[in-house]
Amino acid sequence: MDKLRIKGGNRLEGEIRVSGSKNSALPAMAAALLTSDEVILQNVPFVNDAFTTRRLLRELGMTVEFSDDHSARLHVPKILSFEAPYDLVKTMRASVLVLGPLLARTGRARVSLPGGCAIGARPINLHIAALQQLGATVRTEHGYVEAIAERLNGAEVLFDKITVTGTENLLMAATLAEGRTVLQNSACEPEVVDLANMLSKMGARIEGAGTSTITIDGVPELRGTTHRVIPDRIEGGTFLIAGAITNGNLDIVDANPAHLGSVIQKLREAGAKIETDGSRMSVRPGGDLRAANVVTKEYPGFATDMQAQYMALMTQAAGTSIINENIFENRFMHASELMRMGADIRIDGSRAIVTGKTQLSGATVIASDLRASASLVIAGLVADGSTLIDRVYHLDRGYEKIEEKLRSVGAQIERLK
Ligand code: EPU
Repeated sequence: MDKLRIKGGNRLEGEIRVSGSKNSALPAMAAALLTSDEVILQNVPFVNDAFTTRRLLRELGMTVEFSDDHSARLHVPKILSFEAPYDLVKTMRASVLVLGPLLARTGRARVSLPGGCAIGARPINLHIAALQQLGATVRTEHGYVEAIAERLNGAEVLFDKITVTGTENLLMAATLAEGRTVLQNSACEPEVVDLANMLSKMGARIEGAGTSTITIDGVPELRGTTHRVIPDRIEGGTFLIAGAITNGNLDIVDANPAHLGSVIQKLREAGAKIETDGSRMSVRPGGDLRAANVVTKEYPGFATDMQAQYMALMTQAAGTSIINENIFENRFMHASELMRMGADIRIDGSRAIVTGKTQLSGATVIASDLRASASLVIAGLVADGSTLIDRVYHLDRGYEKIEEKLRSVGAQIERLK
């Protein structure tokens, strides 16, 4: 199993590029199931979750070819299987994104139930209830959810709770339903908007993506398209924090600062010097870090996917900060690893109370999930001595060549095979 070794103490300086968004690329790839034409995606991040999605889609009969320029060609003239097997779903919950498009295109989908993961229980009850409202018959048996519908019918759907992939699944399903679907309390994340833009280019009729009410008028079929995946806002935000914590002079390019509004605002409140200009975000040295409380929320609030990295930053800020995790019930696994590196953190239910500034010291730590791993990398950048991060496969699910990117701006980081 690969490990990362980081020697702390270096400032990050220079230019670092943001890859395409993982959480946009995965639904975009699944959306290619909706048409018998070819779909071309550009700016696909070469991360393990994209490779897992490629495997899954190939099992369903799709031809999926990735090219070195980060484009992907996806083509499924005929769906050959309607099942997402346990082996794939257990490694990547986002496999559930094939449920909506498979059902809409073939009238049938069988998807293994994902089960919990390191950050929480993460049920898919809201995806299922919404598909039932569109007329699907859904059975859960032997750990699989099986949905059947000759043709879905448009309906009014009110999500009890905001769900990102739930909104995406329904958005995809409703494009081919008979009549109008209105999704209330939808997720407003940029990844939902990106998917809606892609589906619209395929011929879907969608209004309101990016707001909490999305209206979809079903069409009989969709056509192929070429679509460029948006920049990964979480990778961009992770680099902002890496720049700020090392008092670096870092230019983050090919980003979309507009998608990072609350993160940038919070980092400025915490004393970081951040400038934005078009698709560039810069962290300048001289920021004196001070404690600032944060509450994770759905977009446009502060993303739960940035919480772990922010916690690492707060260990280096003067004062006490309270971090409230509102989206997932168990997303503080990184706290105990940060504490092993010398951080002063107390967990109280869904709140983490971080007191800084403490000098972190390098230690052997374990990555428990994707963003927790990013938090440990960030801590390692300022720790005294060497930090050895185990279970790096979590990081590889969502960050493309992170060690090469960070090394190119001055970090001392290497991968041990
Ligand atoms: N929820 C339910 N029932 C459902 C669906 C969700 O109770 O049927 C709950 C969840 O348990 C959670 C909350 O609703 O408490 C929000 O979950 P959501 O469904 O929005 O999460 P998701 O769609 O499974 C996506 C991202 C996550 C990100 C969350 C929140 C993708 C592929 N994944 O997950 O990304 O944390 O939204 O923003 O888009 C990551 O990239 O590291 C990651 C975990």
